Amino acid sequence: MPYFYIITAPDRELQLAQAELSVMAGGSIEGRAGWSNVAVDISHAAYVNLCVRQIACAGSLEELCAAIACQGLRADGFAVRVVRQASNVSETTPRLCKQVADAIVGSPNLDAPRVEFCLLIRGTGLWFGRIVSRSLRTWQSAPRLPHQYSCALEPRFARALVNLVAAAGDKLLDMCCGIGTVVRQALIAGVDAYGWEVNERIAQKAAANLAAMGYNNRIIVTDARKSAGRFDAVVADLPYGLTSCVETGFYGQMLEAAGRLAPRAVVVAGRNIQQLAEKLGYRVIVSAQVPKTRLTRHVYLLAAG
Ligand SMILES: C[S@@+](CC[C@H](N)C(=O)[O-])C[C@H]1O[C@@H](n2cnc3c(N)ncnc32)[C@H](O)[C@@H]1O
Repeated sequence: MPYFYIITAPDRELQLAQAELSVMAGGSIEGRAGWSNVAVDISHAAYVNLCVRQIACAGSLEELCAAIACQGLRADGFAVRVVRQASNVSETTPRLCKQVADAIVGSPNLDAPRVEFCLLIRGTGLWFGRIVSRSLRTWQSAPRLPHQYSCALEPRFARALVNLVAAAGDKLLDMCCGIGTVVRQALIAGVDAYGWEVNERIAQKAAANLAAMGYNNRIIVTDARKSAGRFDAVVADLPYGLTSCVETGFYGQMLEAAGRLAPRAVVVAGRNIQQLAEKLGYRVIVSAQVPKTRLTRHVYLLAAG
């Protein structure tokens, strides 16, 4: 595969990170690396950190340097970034960089590189290539908000949900928007996002949070199960711990509403709802579990029909 990708994620969010990479670039994924036939713009990615055009791969550092030298690779003002995902190569990072740099024709410039290479070290081998896209970590760019909420998603998690289901220019609805975390993350990524929230007080906080970032109000107070509209995609971070609601069919009603509103949905639930989603006619494209203290969030990318 001509491109490899590197994930940066804590263990508990690794499945979500792998889901993000799978949806963005496809291909095969092992741990915190993936290989794909396509290069994609990952500037707004939450967990996918680097997209690298592969130049060489080998079982040892010596073989890798020989393969690079063999290609007569030229670059002026370059830097080599080392990503270690295994401890099987004992050389220090500066020594590794020096050995790889010696195989490249041209001069390094570590302070202001014009070309950046990546050396990926894994238990199964070493990969080397040129970085063609990187996450700009724009999920971090939201300022501290006037209103917080104990149920709110972490900004990075919310950005990953957006990336699972929408691209820049898509019209996205967060059916249960809380204080607007997903809507904000979507807007930063260039998605035309809107929020619905049944609780008027919380909806007001979402509107104030958007206003604090200079966005106009895109929040409507409504019960998502009873409202109509048409969107490219929906996100539904469903209430957790509402056992009585779950028992009385709340999750099913929300899934049915999602199917009326958009052809694809990302749903977050406090329990496994795969069977329920399939019974309602959805295909599960990817799923991930994200543990959080005493709760596990179950994330599903669903396609209608
Ligand atoms: C888990 S919280 C969502 C938190 C949100 N993702 C955030 O980051 O702020 C679930 C939200 O769904 C809302 N909700 C519950 N039932 C709803 C319904 N029928 N229609 C719309 N919103 C609903 C709740 O008021 C709550 O704010």
